[in-house]
Amino acid sequence: MLEAESLSYSYPDGHRALHDVSLSVSEGERLALVGANGSGKSTLLLHLAGALRVQEGRITFRGREGQEVLRRHVGLTFQDADDQLLMPSVLEDVAFSLVARGMSLSEAHSRAGELLESLGIAHLSSRPPHKLSGGEKRIVSFAGVLASEPEVLALDEPSAALDPRARRRVIEFLRRSKHTIILATHDLDMALDVCDRAVILSAGRVACKGELPSLFMSRELLESNGLELPLRFSH
Ligand SMILES: Nc1ncnc2c1ncn2[C@@H]1O[C@H](COP(=O)(O)OP(=O)(O)O)[C@@H](O)[C@H]1O
Ligand SMILES: [Mg+2]
Repeated sequence: MLEAESLSYSYPDGHRALHDVSLSVSEGERLALVGANGSGKSTLLLHLAGALRVQEGRITFRGREGQEVLRRHVGLTFQDADDQLLMPSVLEDVAFSLVARGMSLSEAHSRAGELLESLGIAHLSSRPPHKLSGGEKRIVSFAGVLASEPEVLALDEPSAALDPRARRRVIEFLRRSKHTIILATHDLDMALDVCDRAVILSAGRVACKGELPSLFMSRELLESNGLELPLRFSH
């Protein structure tokens, strides 16, 4: 469904963040992108969501190329939910992408209200997003992305800065979701809870790909890529 072939990317300062990265995600699959800090997870995710222009290689969604195709079908949440929550209230924030797509304000508000209801956060509708807790912000940013009805969710560190209960709620939400999911994280336990398969990145290259949970059972493999055994395998 979504394929990256031989992607390489250098930032404007010349730093090469991706080297010859290839991967594919099939419909309904949940893929984890894992790797140490600086291994290229966010850079790769930004490419897959059409937020960065491909320099070398190519990305196709159902065989079609181009940033616009990716932007339309791949919904991206940023590592820092504050980068995404810009409107004065939660309802307006979630309605924003609908209005941007040409829906009338009243229809957008009613659709956004339904979405908040379905995520169990209707009670947050009139709250200012920047005053919410980290976990609430995270779910609201999911709602904002879901409002644009993407087929793929590309999530950058969705457990970052969450307490254990909020983290658990996000995991449950993702497990229930019917979306194709690409989850960039260094939280290997979360990757195990949510994903079927993982790609391990190291210094911008694909170090290893495989099925979960077996890929995360080798201490040697993980440590050689700057990662630690998930808690559940470490005793
Ligand atoms: N805007 C940028 N300009 C220059 N280098 C960057 C920029 N963003 C990220 N990098 C570098 O690219 C590499 C990959 O970064 P990133 O994709 O953010 O990794 P990760 O998400 O795995 O932590 C790192 O070495 C990082 O320092
Ligand atoms: Mg990152």
